[in-house]
Amino acid sequence: MAGAGSAAASRSWLLLVLLLLSAFAAPAAGLGSAKKVYMREKVRKMFYHAYENYMVHAFPHDELKPLTKTFTDSLSELGNLKLERLPQNYNGSALTLVESLSSLVVLGNYTEFERGVLWLSDNLTFDVDARVNLFECNIRVLGGLVSAHILATDSKSRLEHGLYKNQLLDLARDLGQRFLPAFETPTGLPYAWINLKYGVMEDETTETSTSGCGSLILEMGALSRLTGDPRFQAAALRALRKLWSMRSPLNLLGTTLDVVTGDWIEYSSGVGAGVDSFYEYLIKAYILFGNDEFWDMFHSSYLAVQKYFRHGPWYHEADMRTGKATYWQLTSLQAFWPGLQILVGDIAAANSSHREFFYVWDKFGVLPERYLLDHGMLHPTEKYYPLRPELAESTFYLYQATRDPWYMEVGETIINSLNYYTRVDGGFASVRDVTTMELEDHQHSFFLSETCKYLYLLFDDSFLAGQNYVFTTEGHPLPIRGSWHEKLPEAYIPANWTSVKNENQAIRLSALSQQVCPATTTGGSISLQIESACHIPDLHADHRCRTDDECGIDSTTCRKRVCSMAGFCGLWLFIP
Ligand SMILES: *[C@@H]1O[C@H](CO)[C@@H](O)[C@H](O)[C@H]1NC(C)=O
Ligand SMILES: *[C@@H]1O[C@H](CO)[C@@H](O)[C@H](O)[C@H]1NC(C)=O
Ligand SMILES: *[C@@H]1O[C@H](CO)[C@@H](O)[C@H](O)[C@H]1NC(C)=O
Ligand SMILES: *[C@@H]1O[C@H](CO)[C@@H](O)[C@H](O)[C@H]1NC(C)=O
Ligand SMILES: *[C@@H]1O[C@H](CO)[C@@H](O)[C@H](O)[C@H]1NC(C)=O
Repeated sequence: MAGAGSAAASRSWLLLVLLLLSAFAAPAAGLGSAKKVYMREKVRKMFYHAYENYMVHAFPHDELKPLTKTFTDSLSELGNLKLERLPQNYNGSALTLVESLSSLVVLGNYTEFERGVLWLSDNLTFDVDARVNLFECNIRVLGGLVSAHILATDSKSRLEHGLYKNQLLDLARDLGQRFLPAFETPTGLPYAWINLKYGVMEDETTETSTSGCGSLILEMGALSRLTGDPRFQAAALRALRKLWSMRSPLNLLGTTLDVVTGDWIEYSSGVGAGVDSFYEYLIKAYILFGNDEFWDMFHSSYLAVQKYFRHGPWYHEADMRTGKATYWQLTSLQAFWPGLQILVGDIAAANSSHREFFYVWDKFGVLPERYLLDHGMLHPTEKYYPLRPELAESTFYLYQATRDPWYMEVGETIINSLNYYTRVDGGFASVRDVTTMELEDHQHSFFLSETCKYLYLLFDDSFLAGQNYVFTTEGHPLPIRGSWHEKLPEAYIPANWTSVKNENQAIRLSALSQQVCPATTTGGSISLQIESACHIPDLHADHRCRTDDECGIDSTTCRKRVCSMAGFCGLWLFIP
């Protein structure tokens, strides 16, 4: 766990909750330290197998094709489902190397980190005629560069030979400037696509997703702080505020929208594809920048998610206008949600959802992209597993918060399946169909930036010693610095937090659940009997109601309470 000694650490109550939780968790009993070292080394070998094959067969192109041991210049294909307007003359941006830099530091390989940083400093250019997805390019390339720049200048991992003169920051600034024309719309919401050399193209599509315009603030905010140029953060913040202003009266957002008119296109949304990192960036921006505005947006939207999307441990989709369920599907991307719930301290809810995702992993051997909850079967076409990190990520967060050795066993299962099903001579290959385990010729860069990193951190978190980090949605660490905080979130810091460490009940304490369940607080004491933040109180304290809408969510079963014929809210299984 991140060190309690750091001054910045005590500024964030969220991580503080995490600190408190891990401070008194019992030492891991199940997996001995020899086993931990063994598993860590297994992950290290996976990373180098993926990395070295990339460096030999694909670098400086974007990604490795592990079955044919060749490459793909895929940066312009990311998010480009129909593969439209592909560049004619583009030879890659060393994407997988950019994505690997922070993982090399987490694994302690400073020599290779330095070699990569210097190569990029000399050779990377964004003056290329390539149309890229703003969201993907932001989280992978800008995030990778900003994080690597901070790590290269950090006291722990500072590059030694005096050859590093902020070249990665210069590259990041250059890339950030190439993003800015995308934001020149009547709404301030950015186009989803931008040509790195020529800006927004003629007849460019005006459709984008909620995550496409609502999850830019970590990278662009960090870039503004590092360069002193406020334009990056201002553009991302303006887009985020506009997006938030488009929420429904239920505090729900849709999945896709038009950046010119500011109208919604797809009204149904959930916590998975197209929306996921919007929620993630609200809470992480609050942790990184300490600005209450992010907290207020997050708090309202988290409550809305728990109220309208959650059904027991599952999350379905709902229409933003009515809150009515639309699609009952589990998607692989949703598996990040328990990790986010750990950041807000909602351990019980995180634990129960994470278990369901793991059962599905266990059932198929890997996590299928989409599973139809209502039919209990796989989606007919989305049966693939592209080496996604989300379950490993949540497992890492849950282990950090609970130190329950069961999560290491989960990690072991994930590692064993990855090696068994996806490791090939030339790297790691995506699974095309989880029912046949047929492979696909693609090693995604996030396998190196996230999947391997979170699995490694599960068994060796020494990288986190003495410094708290926020991990971007692509797994790139950004340190939490007091000097980056606009305003300290005083209201959320217990004045005497060190003494709380000794009280067992604090395991249950979640600053968020305190806000979600005011009805169950017992006079401001920390011994709250709170199981889960899914609880939503009934509208009236006396539980009287006229319609179901006036009833909340039951705190133990997480079911929607309904209005009985007698006019009281309750869990009526058989409505008379
Ligand atoms: C890409 O590579 C090809 C073949 O090596 C070369 O002809 C072309 O000039 C390169 N394009 C750029 C933009 O560097
Ligand atoms: C660092 O990475 C390089 C390239 O993969 C590898 O050859 C070297 O053994 C690694 N060093 C350590 C200490 O792991
Ligand atoms: C830049 O790329 C060229 C060609 O691959 C290489 O020879 C050179 O060493 C690279 N620069 C650095 C600093 O690695
Ligand atoms: C997680 O859930 C399991 C099964 O319900 C339970 O045994 C375990 O104690 C829970 N752990 C936490 C930290 O809530
Ligand atoms: C710390 O705060 C808690 C909760 O407000 C309180 O119950 C406890 O007495 C305080 N401890 C000390 C040492 O001040």
